[in-house]
Amino acid sequence: MINENLLNKIPQSYWLESTGRTNYPTLNEDIDVDVLIIGGGMVGLLTAYQLKGQVAKLTIIEAERIVESTTAHTTAKITSQHGLIYHKLISKLGRNLAEQYAQANELAIGHIKEIIDENKIDCDFETQAAYIYTQDEKYLKQIQAEVEAAQSLGIQAEFVDEIPFPMEVRAGMVFKNQAQFHPRKFLLDLAQIVHKNGVQIYEKTRAIELEEGYKRYVITTDKGSRILADKVIIASQYPFYNKKSMYYGRIYVERSYILAVKAKEDYPGGMYINAEDPPRSLRSLPTEDGELILVVGENHKPGQSEDTNGHYLNLLNFAQDLFTVEAVPYRWSTQDCLTLDGIPYVGQYASDTPNLYVATGFGKWGMTNSMVSSMILSDLINEGKSPFAEVYDPSRKTIAASAKNFLIQNADVAVQLIEGKLSSTEKDVSLKPGEAIIIEIDGEKVGTFKDEEGELHLVNITCTHMGCELKWNKAERSWDCPCHGSRFTYDGDIIQGPAVKPLSFDRDVNTIKKLINENF
Ligand code: FES
Repeated sequence: MINENLLNKIPQSYWLESTGRTNYPTLNEDIDVDVLIIGGGMVGLLTAYQLKGQVAKLTIIEAERIVESTTAHTTAKITSQHGLIYHKLISKLGRNLAEQYAQANELAIGHIKEIIDENKIDCDFETQAAYIYTQDEKYLKQIQAEVEAAQSLGIQAEFVDEIPFPMEVRAGMVFKNQAQFHPRKFLLDLAQIVHKNGVQIYEKTRAIELEEGYKRYVITTDKGSRILADKVIIASQYPFYNKKSMYYGRIYVERSYILAVKAKEDYPGGMYINAEDPPRSLRSLPTEDGELILVVGENHKPGQSEDTNGHYLNLLNFAQDLFTVEAVPYRWSTQDCLTLDGIPYVGQYASDTPNLYVATGFGKWGMTNSMVSSMILSDLINEGKSPFAEVYDPSRKTIAASAKNFLIQNADVAVQLIEGKLSSTEKDVSLKPGEAIIIEIDGEKVGTFKDEEGELHLVNITCTHMGCELKWNKAERSWDCPCHGSRFTYDGDIIQGPAVKPLSFDRDVNTIKKLINENF
């Protein structure tokens, strides 16, 4: 019964459901600014907070509504514990850079708390311990090595052989004094604070082009307005600007899934993640209707999972093994950018683009990494340097050591590009309400979704970013790109970039709909 109800409900994030919507204006005129931030998520707002009062004309533009994309779909764990990372960082990058990463993320936890306290932001902030656990003997040594590595970098890490959760574990590691919160409650208040301090915020204003002028940048928006800026920060998750630095070849994208579960048993406190595959993560979620538990996990590249609903069901099975699940009031999915060496790209966009900055590739650890990004970017803008710039440098030399990963990720993109062009469309299938198929008309692949009223929605499923063929995502009812993760609604509107143009369909729609209705 729970299974059926789960899949009948359209995915919706609790963070969105429990907060009001914003209504900042759209930019319909040309403007001239000192600093432009592209992207009204956690990085954009925190950076604006750090720069407020120091930059005369500071503007944020957001393609849709602020804090509705990545940040509204996170697990919202504020922790420097980013999986089993520190031992790997020391051996791959050396102690100095590993220390920079550890210190930056430890500082970030404190800074988020300071901002909340200073501004008295009511955002369900709670101090929690963060655990990594394993039920698999073969991770025992890795966890021991990780505890030693983290301690040697100044983190208060401890080895544990049991966790407060009622679960048999082989080994674990705890970082105390980590935290969790409600990301939209925090960031919507922060937006009001920066706005009151003179930061202009424009919504429904998508940057579609960036040109390098003489010592300045010109950004064109989808509304036709142009922004002339001395300095520009691209903080829109996957960078849309393709001309420099080949981010499309240095980032890959993964989707994962979240259930908010009501359980009969009490939650013992703490935030958890396992060391092994498939990934599983847990935290509590205080709501007005009582405590829920966030059950998080699964992962796959966008457009590369046949049965997206199955991922929700896998999480439900996991939850049911742990506690008596009484209901699942919310479910949603999320999408993250990952870099080749696991460290985000934060800093100058490319070595020959002075005053153009980027923050991307947080690899599912966006809360502290967003705070760190804001620290680095505001320092670079104000002082031209940051104590954490080297490890996060988007042009770092150490990235060459990850060349193998680069080749694997790009080989996958090449396969998707070619496969999309060769694969045949579905035949002999019927199209039921709520379903989609791909048909071919004069060599053009047409994505066809039938809604509950029987209305057909047609789009050309060639991704407007770099031409890969989109795949249907049944659970979220979207067209997803297997190459760099752009996502579109069944009407072709952009859900998620790097694409900046919606999908179109330029043929005689009525004739084609008639043909489809007769044949499918
Ligand atoms: Fe790059 Fe689709 S997102 S081709």
